[in-house]
Amino acid sequence: MLLRYIFSLATFVSIVLASGQQSARIPKRDYENNHYFVVDIDTSSSSKPLKDFIQSHQGDFKFEHQVVGLDDHYVFSLRKDNAISEIMGSYNAGQSDDDRVLHKRDGFEDVYDKVVKSNGLRSISWMEPKRLKKRLPVYVTEEEAQDFDSVKRFEAVDASQKPIVEAMEKLAINDPIFPEQWHIINPRFPGHDINVTGLWYEGITGEGIVTAIIDDGLDYDSEDLKANFNKDGSWDFNENTNLPFPRLFDDYHGTRCAGEIGAVKNDVCGVGVAYGGKIAGIRILSGPITSDQEASALMYGLKVNDIYSCSWGPTDDGRTLSQPDLTVKKAMIKSVQEGRDGKGSVYVFASGNGGRAMDSCNFDGYTNSIYSITVGAVDYKGLHPTYAEACSAVMVVTYSSGSGEHIHTTDIKNKCSAAHGGTSAAAPIAAGVFQLVLQMNPNLTWRDLQYVCAMSSVPINEQDGNYQVTALGRKYSHKYGYGKLDAYAIGHFAKTWKNVKPQAWYYSDVITVGETIEGDKEETKVISKILSIKEDDLKIVNLERVEHITVTVNIAATLRGKVGMRLTSPFGIISDLATFRPVDNSNAGFKDWTFMSVAHWGESGIGDWKVEVFTSTPGTGSIIEFQSFQLRLFGESIDAEKTEVYDVTKDYAAERRDKQSEKEGEIGVDPHHTSDVISLSSTSIPIASEQSTSVTKAPIDDEVNPTGSIASTSTTSSSSSFISGSSSATGDVEDDEGKTKHYTSDHTGQYFMALAVVGFLVVIIFMRFHKSPGSSRRRRRREEYEFDIIPGEDYTDSEDDGNEEDSLDLGRYNNQRRTSDEERDRLYDEFNADTLPSYEDDGMFKIGGEEDEDHKPEQKHTKEEPSEEVNTDEGEGQSSK
Ligand SMILES: *[C@@H]1O[C@H](CO)[C@@H](O)[C@H](O)[C@H]1NC(C)=O
Ligand SMILES: *[C@@H]1O[C@H](CO)[C@@H](O)[C@H](O)[C@H]1NC(C)=O
Repeated sequence: MLLRYIFSLATFVSIVLASGQQSARIPKRDYENNHYFVVDIDTSSSSKPLKDFIQSHQGDFKFEHQVVGLDDHYVFSLRKDNAISEIMGSYNAGQSDDDRVLHKRDGFEDVYDKVVKSNGLRSISWMEPKRLKKRLPVYVTEEEAQDFDSVKRFEAVDASQKPIVEAMEKLAINDPIFPEQWHIINPRFPGHDINVTGLWYEGITGEGIVTAIIDDGLDYDSEDLKANFNKDGSWDFNENTNLPFPRLFDDYHGTRCAGEIGAVKNDVCGVGVAYGGKIAGIRILSGPITSDQEASALMYGLKVNDIYSCSWGPTDDGRTLSQPDLTVKKAMIKSVQEGRDGKGSVYVFASGNGGRAMDSCNFDGYTNSIYSITVGAVDYKGLHPTYAEACSAVMVVTYSSGSGEHIHTTDIKNKCSAAHGGTSAAAPIAAGVFQLVLQMNPNLTWRDLQYVCAMSSVPINEQDGNYQVTALGRKYSHKYGYGKLDAYAIGHFAKTWKNVKPQAWYYSDVITVGETIEGDKEETKVISKILSIKEDDLKIVNLERVEHITVTVNIAATLRGKVGMRLTSPFGIISDLATFRPVDNSNAGFKDWTFMSVAHWGESGIGDWKVEVFTSTPGTGSIIEFQSFQLRLFGESIDAEKTEVYDVTKDYAAERRDKQSEKEGEIGVDPHHTSDVISLSSTSIPIASEQSTSVTKAPIDDEVNPTGSIASTSTTSSSSSFISGSSSATGDVEDDEGKTKHYTSDHTGQYFMALAVVGFLVVIIFMRFHKSPGSSRRRRRREEYEFDIIPGEDYTDSEDDGNEEDSLDLGRYNNQRRTSDEERDRLYDEFNADTLPSYEDDGMFKIGGEEDEDHKPEQKHTKEEPSEEVNTDEGEGQSSK
């Protein structure tokens, strides 16, 4: 017994120490036999609560390790054959109903109590292994292939080449595919490029800034990337080792992205947008991971990495609704609060490639996050590619594949790629531009960078994007965001940008609606609500002007794809939040789903916000129940001194109500807060039946409720399930003790010091009795690294079965065959024969030269892409969750 205790303490100490150094020695996972979960427990002043938790569940829960980088969060495992696993699940973790939740079941009451009543316990987050999806290039249509032929026929011997020649001479660029990198200088369609050379001439090449590419690895041995590779910011979460080597045969995605950002100016392939900056690789896409690993990945190397470039997300199939787990959200928040010396890490996310499936990035919780800059795509003719997803979270667009052309970049194994594309290829270009921007003004916070995006981007295709002129005086489109990035323009705009004041936020009450509409053949039925916000409401929360807004909703629906939702601000700007998705047949509705919009940037926030939920036409058979919503405004504070550190688990609506009742004392509801009859003379959506003229107040606050007054103008009403009153709609649950604490790393330090003394001794004892696991592990890794490239999974039947929230089929994953070296090489060659032109023997695009035979392989490859892409596209397995 004592031995056992010492053993577990030793493991605990050694692991905690190791994770403190960010060396991430995470024990190997056994998903077949174990469940894994994260326990958020208060260890800010002592490790006792954790030790008590470990001890009181000995034999059931096994302590694994601390979540790397996140204080107070610890991973435990539980054997699947343990009876307790029947009731175990999430607790207080903001998970909605159908996720696995810790249940109080007959015969298990005491176990339940023992778990949830543990001293200092805040939450338990259940984790399923999942695979996040690369935004792969989309296959080329017949039409586009023809288009591409005409591109290739284009004679490259005219005046349009002059800027290319000039840049090569001025900057001594000898990279063979530089002339093909049209996103840098576009000779065929002048102006349709990122306009970066002007910055390069000024010596701005990204120096001093590091971008981490979170993806399927980074070929740091590549001649084109080696010199710019930053090892300290890199980690492989799939293999639990420090270098993100692309091991699987199809691990080329991250390397291609990295090349766009940081390919070295030399004689290999092309150059990166920020070729003087550094790149790091964080590998997470090459196998199943759990949300603690995802969380660690998204804040890995916080002291080194400035920007995280993410070209992945939930499946873009037009029917997935998925968001990061609470642990992951906490990681992103920590990263924007503490990264870049408090100025905040920059997250860049690709908007998604589901455009052809009518997918929208508002159904993706990563692009939808206020902490990420969502990047859409335009092609080399400046057109909107059909694959690129639009939504109210799109901030900017930049260049990628379409109209038959692709992005030309570095590839794995010292090859070059002429086939990179999708929004996957757009996000890294944006990340590269941001690297230049941060070099020009390192003082920018994560929010300042979003401001300069909105202020300096160049609207494109103004006849097409349904542009609206926003409060900033800038044009905004759901398709193009604030326009395309112009590197020169944003760099010079940013140079003189003065930092905005810190962030403040306003949470409305959770407004219970409880009304139902039914779709029919002709008419669009609408449930419309008005939320009035008064100047005082924002003053009390110290909010001066709006940047991001979010709307968290509960909507039940028989067909989720037929739910429409939009928000109209007092200023008159419309955000399309839920758009119709023809293939989304889910009946799961939206449970605590948060939509986000950047279209209201610069508004005061004061006045009537109109929220509308409506049916599609024809919409026969679809029933929609709008249950509740909560509007949150995030923006610049009035008084910088009064700002606080944001805590995602806090109910700021309750806090605001407290402040208001404190201030207003006994005063009841001010009649001015209640809107009168709302006239819905919306042009695009006719209102079906007669409107109720009654004015209902938010039914949720029995006490003083000066805000959140709503006027109801809906057609019908019903009273099925209501979500409970004033609790936060995201289900972020607050713990009695853990109120506003902001956990800095200070306490971790003390904590380690205290433990170090005991730990050191115990570890030594521990080491004596066990063969050093480190040494054998290291040996094995080395072998794996050299010989053990695992072939991809067999995905031939991996299309999901209609359940939009698939978890990974582990059986299939575990059964994957390991092949001999020979088989591996064969697979590799077969796969890459078409896709990877070699820069050694491939004829390069020569200025002034003629197109020669050597171009043929490349051309052929592009044409054959459809089969390749279909293949790999299926191959990407499951979405997250
Ligand atoms: C593109 O860069 C040049 C300098 O190289 C600059 O003069 C021009 O204004 C830039 N374009 C835009 C739209 O800002
Ligand atoms: C950044 O901030 C420092 C100190 O606050 C200031 O001295 C410097 O001029 C600023 N740099 C830029 C580019 O604004």
